[in-house]
Amino acid sequence: MMKKILLMHGANLNFLGKRNPEHYGNLTLSDLEKIVTKEALKFNFDIINYQSNHEGNLIDALQEHASNCAGIIINPGAFSHYSYALHDALLDTNLPVVEVHLSKVTGREIWRRTSVIEPACIHVIEGKKENGYKEAIKVISEYLNK
Ligand code: DQA
Repeated sequence: MMKKILLMHGANLNFLGKRNPEHYGNLTLSDLEKIVTKEALKFNFDIINYQSNHEGNLIDALQEHASNCAGIIINPGAFSHYSYALHDALLDTNLPVVEVHLSKVTGREIWRRTSVIEPACIHVIEGKKENGYKEAIKVISEYLNK
């Protein structure tokens, strides 16, 4: 059976395609999920997609899916900057987590430059739009093959 990666998106990312293209590109979330699923197949991973605008739902989904997954790719949206609860939930999965941001968060507003989930992650990728997610798969694959 193929190993699974949980691809998780947080607040407002269901609106990709309608949000500022300069920061977030033109792809919809569904386009993005298809690209990541295709890339993951090359590395023999299945993708489980999950998006929610609600912090508690993200935590519930982590608790539900983590035991069936080999890794997590997460773009929590603005939750990245203040959700200690999400940090703890990610840590409790004991899985390799890669944090991805479509935009270059460290070059934007000061409040975006802090990620409170970063300490629960093995790697952070920003500002590479959809390519950041492709890189995240490679990072998880290499981590698991170490
Ligand atoms: C984002 C960056 C966050 O600061 C923002 O709140 C988002 C998207 C990104 O992908 O660049 O919603 O995570």
